[in-house]
Amino acid sequence: MTKNEMKTLLAAQQGELDAVLMYKKLADTVKDPRDKETFLRLAAEEGRHARVFAGLTNKVLKPKKALSVAVPLLYRVIGKKRLYPIIAKSEYGAVDTYKPVAERFPEIESVKNDEKRHGDTVTALLGK
Ligand SMILES: [Fe+2]
Repeated sequence: MTKNEMKTLLAAQQGELDAVLMYKKLADTVKDPRDKETFLRLAAEEGRHARVFAGLTNKVLKPKKALSVAVPLLYRVIGKKRLYPIIAKSEYGAVDTYKPVAERFPEIESVKNDEKRHGDTVTALLGK
């Protein structure tokens, strides 16, 4: 593994850990029980992703709190109609970020596919 690949994988691992905490805190904040249940499930899946990356880096990282504070605050301030598209966009962004890494490390393929589904799932929470 190159230095750059390690750097990319560590950033991904950190991002997944931060997402676990963010989705848990968001689940604590949202009003709709369906949203809550969805975000708890996404948190669990981001946890699996973090473990996939940890398996490649062999490093133990700690989640950073910033997103887990900012996103529930945004829920209160701008509301779900404006927040959820931002979350979905960041999930779709992860798909693009993981594409080249998944070619090099095949175990990341399913992680990448989950992020696409997460984007769709969060978008669907805005449906009727
Ligand atoms: Fe993820």
